[in-house]
Amino acid sequence: MNRIIEKKQLSAEVFEMVVEAPRIAIARRAGQFVMIQIDTEWGERIPLTIADADAERGTLTLVFQTVGATTHRLAAKTPGACIENILGPLGNPTHIQNFGSVICVGGGIGVAPLFPIVQAMKDAGNHVSVIIGARNKDLVIFEDRMRRFADEVIVITDDGSYGKKGVVTIPLKEHCAATPKPNLAVAIGPPIMMKFCEKTTAEFDVPIMVSLNTIMIDGTGMCGGCRVTVGDETKFVCVDGPEFDGHHVDFDNMMLRMRSYRERETADRHKCRLELGLEV
Ligand code: FAD
Ligand code: FES
Ligand code: MG
Repeated sequence: MNRIIEKKQLSAEVFEMVVEAPRIAIARRAGQFVMIQIDTEWGERIPLTIADADAERGTLTLVFQTVGATTHRLAAKTPGACIENILGPLGNPTHIQNFGSVICVGGGIGVAPLFPIVQAMKDAGNHVSVIIGARNKDLVIFEDRMRRFADEVIVITDDGSYGKKGVVTIPLKEHCAATPKPNLAVAIGPPIMMKFCEKTTAEFDVPIMVSLNTIMIDGTGMCGGCRVTVGDETKFVCVDGPEFDGHHVDFDNMMLRMRSYRERETADRHKCRLELGLEV
């Protein structure tokens, strides 16, 4: 049982929760995630990245977007309530070193998992630029936190309601075309965004690390649900990743697999929103 200590709504669809998980808070490193199971009666397990942790307080910060049934159920929980199971830390920590200059790109909810990586890259002595992308102003998250650590923060929204107008690949391309170009790019966000970040960096021979968000069931390498093709190899994102060399990831296959249960997910989402008294 893991008690929810705090809950904040960061935007219309994004929530931040601080939960008790003392042993994970001590062990976790940047880039790792947990599998949570809200309750054993409605037992779906979902992966969420550890956005931050406080080892002294014994807490983890999770930031999630309400996309379907489980994330809606989680958002409906209030401080004092419990999450039945939290398993972790899972996945390999991010490879952190002094690369020189690193450009970190986060799209939508991907900005939250990017935050511990930005902190760790900065601590390792890198010059860190951050690009935060969102559909509109209301969906921009973690800007202040990023500004506390990064050397430069660029915000860009699809509709231009905040920051620059456009998509993250525009400032990414500008940075890659500059001299000197970044030594590494890191991208976390919707698969389609990561795919286009990969194309942009490939043009300029900039290495890119992406954090993949495939469907996961057990999170420990046993079910094969999270498999992806990287180069000519099959990899399991939960144990071999979640981070991979973006230039070798087959994003099209990954996106196809992520749509496998779309019909069932939509039906569950509608049912869940009705139960919670939300507009369908
Ligand atoms: P559903 O309606 O069931 O699914 C919506 C979409 O989410 C699906 O189409 C599918 O593409 C994906 N999805 C569904 N079930 C799973 C599953 N079991 N595992 C993974 N993806 C699934 N989201 C956040 O908001 N914050 C995070 O910090 C975060 N970190 C992640 C870290 C990793 C390593 C991975 C793999 C995913 C992460 N995600 C994160 C995505 C999050 O797990 C999904 O949004 C969540 O599982 C959706 O569940 P649902 O029941 O609410 O939605
Ligand atoms: Fe089952 Fe990765 S989630 S093998
Ligand atoms: Mg679900």
